[in-house]
Amino acid sequence: MREWTKEERYRVLKDPQEIWELYKQTKESKYRQIFHNQPVTGLLNDPNGFVRFDNKWHLFYQWCPWGAVHGLKYWYHIVSKDLVTWENIGVCLMPEESYGYDNKGAYSGSAYPVGDKMYLYYTGNNRDEKWVRHPFTCLARLGSDGWPEKYPLPLFGEHPDYTEHQRDPKIIALPEQNCYYIILGAQNKEKKGCILIYKSKDLLHGWTFAGELKVPGFEDFGSMWECPSIEHIGGRDVLMFCPQNLKLPGRGDSIHHNGYILGLMDWDTLTFVPSGDFHVLDFGFDSYAAACANNVEEEDKAILIAWMGLPDASYPTDEEDWSGCLTLPRELTVRGRRLIQKPLPELKKLRDERIPVKENENGCIVIPGASEITLDVRPGDCEFALFTNQAGEGGIRIVYDDAVKEITVDKSGMKKRFNVSHGESRTRPLPDGLTQLRIYIDRSSVEIFVNDGDAVFTSRVFPTEEESYMKCNRGDAFIRIWTLKSAVKDEFLI
Ligand code: FRU
Repeated sequence: MREWTKEERYRVLKDPQEIWELYKQTKESKYRQIFHNQPVTGLLNDPNGFVRFDNKWHLFYQWCPWGAVHGLKYWYHIVSKDLVTWENIGVCLMPEESYGYDNKGAYSGSAYPVGDKMYLYYTGNNRDEKWVRHPFTCLARLGSDGWPEKYPLPLFGEHPDYTEHQRDPKIIALPEQNCYYIILGAQNKEKKGCILIYKSKDLLHGWTFAGELKVPGFEDFGSMWECPSIEHIGGRDVLMFCPQNLKLPGRGDSIHHNGYILGLMDWDTLTFVPSGDFHVLDFGFDSYAAACANNVEEEDKAILIAWMGLPDASYPTDEEDWSGCLTLPRELTVRGRRLIQKPLPELKKLRDERIPVKENENGCIVIPGASEITLDVRPGDCEFALFTNQAGEGGIRIVYDDAVKEITVDKSGMKKRFNVSHGESRTRPLPDGLTQLRIYIDRSSVEIFVNDGDAVFTSRVFPTEEESYMKCNRGDAFIRIWTLKSAVKDEFLI
């Protein structure tokens, strides 16, 4: 793996020409996605500032231009009219030595539109001469000309009672209290993850520290909580965050997770009262920093997008100097004690052609490069393998075992293996049995929705040429396959 010096990682991009060759090289990769957002060059991580504004959906992502490395981070801007087809706009927030507060990165945050302006709340990742980190909560205003204007002073700096890990502002409006809140992911001095809350009557001024969020039962749950948010969906409150340095059963030695707790948020006492356990959002291997659109009008649902990747992980395209992509947008609803996560209904627009299901002499079916596959099945055991060779060997095995009522996704049969120590197999109970799989396959990813959104397994996958078949052991399964249209363009806009 390539070693990066600090100077290389934190180099400032002065002229798009500096990455033109890298862009051309990246574009050639056979793993470039067809309908998932991915970086023009370098590394993509968290989705930021997801919002509807000016009749379009706006989304930004954390971007390091230079390669598959976490270095100087920019906010890269993309837009969509329908959440299906996306357009690159280019860099929005740039870290600036002259501004100072964000000299070593414009880190994650959220957006809030008012009239013809959109306000961007982000973490200015400042480092001093001794390389000590000082996080600032910064504000920028984006007009309809698309040009961001940073406010001269940050809204607030680091809280002295917590460590330097304080970041990822999520802005929340509470009209009934006539007030706004910013919640931040943080770490206390005992090195435990927590959430800090700031409050103001005005979006632009007067922010004061309101306190630390109390989450009874979760005082010792990982060492830092990244990318927190509190959503109100279907009359329930959902606390979402990414606890770090925490091991969870069945997830190998993976230590970074993205999950949620359902409960009740009391803004008067700053307490989130859990009504159940912490659940992971995604049962697959590559999903982190999920963010919900900030102003979706429907009360009973939210729209979620995540980074299809993980911190401290490496991927086969690292060698090609690029890495990361976003998941498809998903519709979130609450059912009982869980979140239900379905592909957005609009994604049906991606369907190009329904193709006949033809088996070769080994019972294998060719997988088109970008496709949607559904499988409906009656009760009983079922094994469905994706990315096998033409003899049905290898690949990703999706096995439902009716005796124990569990579904397992095992990727250890793929030729290109990565992040093996995180565990290559993940299991989720399915007490009501398996009825349906809906699978989105792009050039280097797979998203497996189980039983109409009851569970989702998201993974990067880097098939070789021969790993292009699928096979189901149930002759009575009803399989449909669509080829999908391209929905993102690899346009060089910086
Ligand atoms: C999560 C994260 C955030 C931070 C950003 C930097 O992946 O570490 O906490 O703001 O990435 O890119």
